[in-house]
Amino acid sequence: MATSENEFFVIKAKENGVNVIGLTRGSDTRFHHSEKLDKDEVMIAQFTDHTSAVKVRGKAVIQTKHGEMHTDTDS
Ligand code: TRP
Repeated sequence: MATSENEFFVIKAKENGVNVIGLTRGSDTRFHHSEKLDKDEVMIAQFTDHTSAVKVRGKAVIQTKHGEMHTDTDS
């Protein structure tokens, strides 16, 4: 995958201790990286050759090209 063509997504923590967990691409789906964000910290990331999915635990705002979502509300 050409990561330069790949969109970024943004995660902003609304509380301390939000976890952004990267899951591996390919037949073996496992956690490969966990990043802890404190309140108001922002992570800007992409999907890559190594990362095909991301799990967010805790209260956060997630922005992608598909829209914005809050993990703690319905919108
Ligand atoms: N080394 C990882 C990669 O290139 C870094 C990474 C990219 C990452 N996107 C991520 C880690 C999302 C966690 C979540 O794939």
